[in-house]
Amino acid sequence: MDQDRQKKNAARAALNEVQDGMVVGLGTGSTAAYFIQALSNRVHEENWRIETVATSKESAELARSLGLIVKDIDEVSAIDLTVDGADEVDPKLNGIKGGGAALLFEKVVALRSKKNVWLIDESKLSPRLGAFLLPVEVIEFGAQQVYRTFVHMGLHPRFRMQNERDRKKTDSGHNIIDLDISAVADLSQLAEQLKSITGVVEHGLFLGICDKAIIGSDPIKEIERP
Ligand code: A5P
Repeated sequence: MDQDRQKKNAARAALNEVQDGMVVGLGTGSTAAYFIQALSNRVHEENWRIETVATSKESAELARSLGLIVKDIDEVSAIDLTVDGADEVDPKLNGIKGGGAALLFEKVVALRSKKNVWLIDESKLSPRLGAFLLPVEVIEFGAQQVYRTFVHMGLHPRFRMQNERDRKKTDSGHNIIDLDISAVADLSQLAEQLKSITGVVEHGLFLGICDKAIIGSDPIKEIERP
């Protein structure tokens, strides 16, 4: 089954996680967009009272355009469930996110959610993280200095570009530097190291955050965090 159909399947299956009255965190990316669409359909069919919190301007706009209620994260007292995509996921449900440059808001929302469900297709499962470049969000001021630090760490950094000339900007106006972590043995240690670098806002290693992955294969598979 092709990737796109798997994404749609997983998005539909994720509706089983949603109940009337919940505050739902909305992820970012093509899979999350399928979920937002499916959620909107369900909310209107069932006349549910659902509030949502979005992880990007893009997802907020999509959700509003589909008639969902989108709240600012600081307007809700708790987030019951967040449904998001991911770029690479290992068997323990550690993952890399940020391919769509929304990792900062995605992590803020995920860490405040009672349950995190990721929707993926089979191609994103990997025995060991590192096939996907790790996105790191850095502030514009001194970004080149942080880049040099990454060179010295042997992480083969590259600035994410918007086009040939301009760097990609996140919703917060930051830069993204993508790192090759394929040779890094201890990812928890790397996560700590990255957070300790002044100028780094957040990285796309989501370790121990996801509770359940839904793989949109036929049949659908679900993996719960051990
Ligand atoms: C956004 O920054 C990412 O974390 C996405 O969740 C991830 O890139 C998955 O995107 P797709 O669902 O488009 O594959």
